[in-house]
Amino acid sequence: MPDPQVVIHVNGSPISVPAGSMLSTALLMASAPCRISSTGEPRTALCGMGICLECRAIVNGVPHTRTCQTVCQEGMRVETQP
Ligand code: FES
Repeated sequence: MPDPQVVIHVNGSPISVPAGSMLSTALLMASAPCRISSTGEPRTALCGMGICLECRAIVNGVPHTRTCQTVCQEGMRVETQP
């Protein structure tokens, strides 16, 4: 039996990920940064446990969402945070 999948939209592009995936993992699968630093560097999850804040992204319009603490939901919209 195939694993259930959910479709999320990362910077406007749909990607399919296993249900129950953390959003930070989905962003890595999509090769998408979570945010862009003030010096223009792409940043992604570092600690994976909600402390470093490197994984912040805009999720369903909410900025500063910790993607390492967020489970992917069908139809979720994620944007790289400037
Ligand atoms: S990876 Fe550190 S807070 Fe999310």
